[in-house]
Amino acid sequence: MAAPHPHGTGDWWRSAVIYQVYPRSFADGDGDGTGDLAGVRARLPHLAELGVDALWFTPWYLSPLVDGGYDVADYRTVDPAFGTLAEAEKLIAEARELGIGVIVDIVPNHVSDRHAWFRAALAAGPGSPERELFHFRPGRGEHGELPPNTWPSQFSGPTWTRVEDGEWYLHLFTPEQPDLNWAHPAVRQEHEDVLRFWFERGVAGVRIDSAALLAKDPALADFTEGVDPHPYIDQDELHDIYRSWRAVADEYGAVFVGEVWLPDAERFARYLRPDELHTAFNFAFLACPWEPGRLRRTIDATLAEHAPVGAPATWVLCNHDVTRTVTRYGRADTAFDFATKAFGTPTDIALGTRRARAAALLTLALPGSVYLYQGEELGLPEADIPLDRIQDPMHFRSGGTDPGRDGCRVPLPWTADAPHAGFGPGPGAPWLPQPDGWAAYAADRQAADPGSMLTLYRRALRLRRTTRGFGDGPLTWLPAPDGVLAFTRPGGLTCVVNLAPEPVRLPAHDTVLLTSGPLDEDGRLPGDTAVWLRSGSRVEED
Ligand code: GLC
Repeated sequence: MAAPHPHGTGDWWRSAVIYQVYPRSFADGDGDGTGDLAGVRARLPHLAELGVDALWFTPWYLSPLVDGGYDVADYRTVDPAFGTLAEAEKLIAEARELGIGVIVDIVPNHVSDRHAWFRAALAAGPGSPERELFHFRPGRGEHGELPPNTWPSQFSGPTWTRVEDGEWYLHLFTPEQPDLNWAHPAVRQEHEDVLRFWFERGVAGVRIDSAALLAKDPALADFTEGVDPHPYIDQDELHDIYRSWRAVADEYGAVFVGEVWLPDAERFARYLRPDELHTAFNFAFLACPWEPGRLRRTIDATLAEHAPVGAPATWVLCNHDVTRTVTRYGRADTAFDFATKAFGTPTDIALGTRRARAAALLTLALPGSVYLYQGEELGLPEADIPLDRIQDPMHFRSGGTDPGRDGCRVPLPWTADAPHAGFGPGPGAPWLPQPDGWAAYAADRQAADPGSMLTLYRRALRLRRTTRGFGDGPLTWLPAPDGVLAFTRPGGLTCVVNLAPEPVRLPAHDTVLLTSGPLDEDGRLPGDTAVWLRSGSRVEED
């Protein structure tokens, strides 16, 4: 079956707005307090009205949910908490009817410890072919009581766990997520089969989890940061894997987006060569502080690193792993960094919201595609989760110092006057508690409010779809006062973002298309505000 092209062209992904659904927290269709596919299907009109081109679903497969579904027990089964495979197929078809593509999430670095392969490997014992699908090794020390090497974890805490027969297995994340051995042909074959399984069901694309971690130094040698080459991030063998994946995707017209966190721009761009991944998340932009010089440098660096390989940039403000945008931008340090996440950071939500609104217009005007994490269109803040309700393993593995990622995963508020803000139909309490005041963010209330975040996103996405100049294509910076970012796109579209405290005059224009907040009484653009302008007479063509 051919993959859908949501807006009728094979290049839709170069300019798309892709909405990230975290199914557990999006909408609950059966009233048990956990979001599910029935909930998503019922809310497809919300997504169509919002005007997104595609939905990326974080994993919906069978999973013990130790790491929110990134511990997959079976890729060909939908977890009963979320629904059935038949429902997933219906959802893909219904979204497609609305011109919305579906992107599924594949987690190739590891599986759940409940996956049939890992159960078989445990049962078969040392030296067995089943163990070769993973990284099992004897320990070090007199009695094998020490882990086989000193590799750092991606989640703090140990990277090796010992099993009853004395061997150890590698897991870059939790012990419930054993790493696969990507040097084994069966691992490659299985993943290509899984890709086909979902492409046959009409998905438009695949998001690749932890995409730069799969291949490991075969010697599993010790590693000292700053001394040795990294033993598992960005190994050269990965490119061959993704070239094979690309050949499979091309048969279906489907696309990839890789989760590639790499500081080196040249190494990052290698994943985006024409026969590898179509796109990768822009984490440099996600982590960038709300500071004009830094933003401009990040935008320029992004465009410069994508240009040689011909890949479109992606723009990401938030996802299910990081601090909500209105909260991050309302803090003294507006950068995102896993290492500095802490409890009790003072936050000015009103300021953060004003900046998040301006950032929405900035992001949507930049060349390429945009990812929008669920709840960002409602301006949800990061929630403080009571200690006894935290579920994220990142919190526990940090020894309790890291608040974890649950604060951006709180079930969405849909209906202000309903129990649990309308997350589900029944009295079932949401799996994570919604903070006081959550109902004020409900989608129904915001839909009726011209000044709401939802109204801003709806207007911006509608304009972006119907006006020339957005999405893939050139960007030209305009001269602007200190603290102001101003650029044009083809067709006379101009975006101005004022990050300075003082209001600034708008450049010459014919029409104000949209502002993130009111202009002042003299028609000037206040601080932390953005505007889209159209100038009919000027056509920028590079
Ligand atoms: C990715 C996911 C994250 C998950 C991790 C392990 O970073 O985004 O949520 O915990 O991979 O699969």
